[in-house]
Amino acid sequence: MTRGGAWRVAPGGVLRGTLSMPGDKSISHRALMLAALAAGDTHISGFLAAADCLATARALEALGVRIERPADTEVRVHGRGAAGLSPAAGPLDMGNAGTALRLMMGVLAPQRFDSTLVGDESLMRRPMERVAAPLQMMGARIHTHEGRPPVLIRGTPQLRAIHYSLPVASAQVKSALLLAGLSASGCTRLTEPAPSRDHTERMLAAFGVRLTHSGRTIALEGGQTLRATQVAVPADFSSAAFFIVAGCLAAEQPLRLTNIGVNPTRTGLLELLRRMGADIRVEPCAAAGVGGEPSADIEVHRSALRGIAVPEALVPLSIDELPVFFVAAACASGETVVRGALELRVKESDRLATMAAGLATLGVEHQLLPDGLWIRGAATLGGGAIDSGGDHRVAMAFAVAALRARAPLEITDVANVATSFPQFVSHARAVGLQIETS
Ligand code: S3P
Repeated sequence: MTRGGAWRVAPGGVLRGTLSMPGDKSISHRALMLAALAAGDTHISGFLAAADCLATARALEALGVRIERPADTEVRVHGRGAAGLSPAAGPLDMGNAGTALRLMMGVLAPQRFDSTLVGDESLMRRPMERVAAPLQMMGARIHTHEGRPPVLIRGTPQLRAIHYSLPVASAQVKSALLLAGLSASGCTRLTEPAPSRDHTERMLAAFGVRLTHSGRTIALEGGQTLRATQVAVPADFSSAAFFIVAGCLAAEQPLRLTNIGVNPTRTGLLELLRRMGADIRVEPCAAAGVGGEPSADIEVHRSALRGIAVPEALVPLSIDELPVFFVAAACASGETVVRGALELRVKESDRLATMAAGLATLGVEHQLLPDGLWIRGAATLGGGAIDSGGDHRVAMAFAVAALRARAPLEITDVANVATSFPQFVSHARAVGLQIETS
């Protein structure tokens, strides 16, 4: 993990302006992987040039894929076809990127060669059995170290399709199994307990793969080939989320965020904030991008927020936005409760614990629950030193909290913001947040 770095964020202030956001992280990972498995060259525009996606690109290069970057956000992938990867010289280091490691398990399980996947200190602590176990049911030979990386994969080209009910709503598990299912004999059928982000399904269709949906079940026939295409990655809603909450708290004039990906499996935060009374206007952009990913301009007005009980069904649809949602709750009138968010404990940090610790520093009354948080909002927050735990989304969430603080916030261990949003500080300053780096 890239450790260190600190921000000092001045308390209070107002925001105004228009921002565009960098490319979507989830979609950028998938675009690289599907392009590598396709026959022919794929051009990706709007690519997120951040540490997580660059780890995916490096891993694919180590597997023999030629990748060109004519510009920071433009990528050309010379696809090798499903059976065209070659063994890497050593372990593949996925850095901080859980999505990359888990999806690569699905890519590598059916290869004719063995692979080892590792990551940074945080990724080496994250659970991998949720992907390894169903892949083993397909006949894959995969070993984890007590459920965590390193993940050792003995390539097994004859995987069998399975019918599998996912125990948790996880797009990473679903995607790894769909990627493995592409090379399996028979029809892979996956049933989700609740909808999770569907970028893999949309992008597979864009690469010419047929999938069928019936209720919460997705079916994919093995042996289909991917055809290279053009991918236009929309801007990342999860990055926009920090500015959406910031705008609710402190927009002097409406804050505009342009051309943001608004796939409905990602935008649970909009529904949550609206239930809290937020005035957020969404104007859809004319055409959905390649892969059927919709985008929109989002206009955020300063709003008086009221606490809510979060419906559990909205948790998977707002999972990465919950850290900044907790900040919104801390600034709302009344109580907010989130349950059914156990998954937050196994993200880049234990996000329930790191957010609770930071809220305690700011003097916010709260209760850490086994699977969520209860928060009583306050008109203003305190200041002080907050350890982000090396978690990018926690660091950015507390930078937003400074807008309602009475004293400066010192946020430490922020270097990992480079994994998803390297331009966060310059974007935040551009709309009025007073943030100093050290
Ligand atoms: C992701 C899925 C989610 C999300 C992560 C990105 C993806 O994780 O939290 O940041 O790109 O598929 P889970 O699948 O573990 O819920």
